[in-house]
Amino acid sequence: MVSVCAGGSPIFCSGAVVSLGLRATPALNLEIAMDHISQTEALYQHAKRRIPGGTQLLSKRPEMFAPDVWPAYYREARGCEVWDLDGRHYFDMTHNGVGSCLLGYADPDVTRAVTDRIQRGSMCTLNSPEEVKLADALCEIHPWAEQVRFARCGGEACAVAVRIARATTDRSVVAICGYHGWQDWYLAANLGAEDALRGHLLPGLAPLGVPRELRGTALTFTYGDRAGFEAILAEQGDRLAAVIMEPCRYRDPEPGYLDYIRDRAHQHGALLIFDEITIGWRLCHGGSHLRLGVAPDMAVFAKALGNGHPIGAVIGTKQAMDGAQNSFISSTYWTEGVGPTAALATIQKLKKENVTAHVARIGTLMQEAWRAVGKKHRLPVKVGEGYPCLAHFAFDHEQANALKTAFTTRMLRHGFLAGTAIYPTLAHTESIVAQYAEALDTVFAELASALDQGRVADLLEGPPAHQGFKRLL
Ligand SMILES: Cc1ncc(COP(=O)(O)O)c(C=O)c1O
Repeated sequence: MVSVCAGGSPIFCSGAVVSLGLRATPALNLEIAMDHISQTEALYQHAKRRIPGGTQLLSKRPEMFAPDVWPAYYREARGCEVWDLDGRHYFDMTHNGVGSCLLGYADPDVTRAVTDRIQRGSMCTLNSPEEVKLADALCEIHPWAEQVRFARCGGEACAVAVRIARATTDRSVVAICGYHGWQDWYLAANLGAEDALRGHLLPGLAPLGVPRELRGTALTFTYGDRAGFEAILAEQGDRLAAVIMEPCRYRDPEPGYLDYIRDRAHQHGALLIFDEITIGWRLCHGGSHLRLGVAPDMAVFAKALGNGHPIGAVIGTKQAMDGAQNSFISSTYWTEGVGPTAALATIQKLKKENVTAHVARIGTLMQEAWRAVGKKHRLPVKVGEGYPCLAHFAFDHEQANALKTAFTTRMLRHGFLAGTAIYPTLAHTESIVAQYAEALDTVFAELASALDQGRVADLLEGPPAHQGFKRLL
């Protein structure tokens, strides 16, 4: 039995979904006719010819959700509501701007601060004082850190951290666990083995265009695999500049694991960099390492830090950051004022609203909904046991990808952008989750019936979703 409450009304009773009195303001656009080519779709067809790869970020390719059906463009985004170019309204129950908008889209407080900065000029020959305030704020939240450098994007900030680590240690090799961006230093890992980065979030990352001479400069290990990490140390220990990894992604590490990595790295003269780009600010206020009680030498933030405005930060001890004094790390737009202004307003609001507690609650409701409704319809739904702030499920079935694609297209008809993961935001309410659960009940029933009758493929309205990086045209 699941007992989830929205404004006092139970959403589920004994696994059954019941109707709720509560509604979020805009009406759902149920059963939208999708048989014509919309403005949104037409623009994407054009874009695929004009822009190689169609979009600037793999995760925003409609093909990653539902080819030919997923709306590629938005006209307006507020809170967790989105309107596409054809005026269709959706609640965003996905990663909400790929994890960049933890307060929700167009948060009024962040927008006010940013607008004020823009009106007073956000670029100048002189520097923006907000970056110093932000550096102080980040060091206050992370008392082990003494210095800060800024960039604007996540992968870029990781590249800055790795450059600093290499400069400080005067060494080249980096041990990598997880995904850290598109840059040469990272994709160099795929020059060695066929797909060494497989399992580090995205399969099939091509190292084409990455100088072959970088082979052997980036070596991967799997989270929790001490033997794999020891093998890197044994072979490359005296050449190792840094270890870069997320402190955690979906669940806590086994006790002592992060201390072990840090201590072994230090014993070999290497620095430990924590990538907090996705998990940071969601699990606790600041980096997740604060909650896990392990201080690295450097930590990297981006995404949620600016709540939709580009800002990336590398924080570190004075000793670890020393290389930044000698290495040339410099860029014009790293000096503009919107990014740090947005970050200051975001940090303040994240704290004031106790956003980590809110997103944990919403994520838990989502996990409970998937579990209960999946069970009700006897669908092979496996809900990730991990942190609710990055809640996810999977179809545990050989036709998982077809089921996932069909799920997405059916949920669109009910007015929800939905995949198999949600990064909840402050804008998600229990009432919205309740509406989602009602749609889920209908859609899971359809999937279960199709599965029983062996006609899952008939549910597809286009090709199945892509499962990794591949060429589009
Ligand atoms: C852990 C982690 N590091 C780095 C990045 C790259 O950030 P960006 O896409 O802003 O370059 C991401 C993006 O998904 C990420 O999740």
